[in-house]
Amino acid sequence: MKIKFTLISISLILFFLSSCYYDKEDELYPASGICDATVAVTYSAQIVPLFQQYCYSCHGGNASSGGGIPMGTYTTDKAMALNGSLYGSITHTSNFSTMPKGMNKLTACQIGKVKKWIDGGSLNN
Ligand code: HEC
Repeated sequence: MKIKFTLISISLILFFLSSCYYDKEDELYPASGICDATVAVTYSAQIVPLFQQYCYSCHGGNASSGGGIPMGTYTTDKAMALNGSLYGSITHTSNFSTMPKGMNKLTACQIGKVKKWIDGGSLNN
């Protein structure tokens, strides 16, 4: 009886976690490092994985659904940072298309990381 209850509880927890993992990760794991706004931001460790998850499917490599706006290399990503469209689009600033297109706005923590990278000079680190 006890084992059965434990199994049911575990299944429920797993179900709950998996059902909201992708869009609520930093609310579920505030200090786990998945999106920890206090860690140092580098292009390779923080920014590329974020862009891979949310942007490169449309803008990267040979993807054709990014309106002809390329991302996916340091050169393209830095150019987007420098011309202001990266920050403008992810913060849903007027005059910019809202990105990531068709998805929820990035979390404040994720946007904060991008801002840190831009403010730090959008280095290739
Ligand atoms: C589902 C496909 C898709 C995804 C995902 C996507 N984009 Fe876009 N993006 C587009 C398209 C298409 C355009 C062309 C403008 C438009 O149609 O809104 C665009 C335009 C842009 C622009 C130019 C906006 C402007 O007004 O000048 C920027 C910058 C941009 N995307 C950045 C990003 C970033 C950063 C991400 C990830 C956080 C992202 N996009 C995710 C499809 C996408």
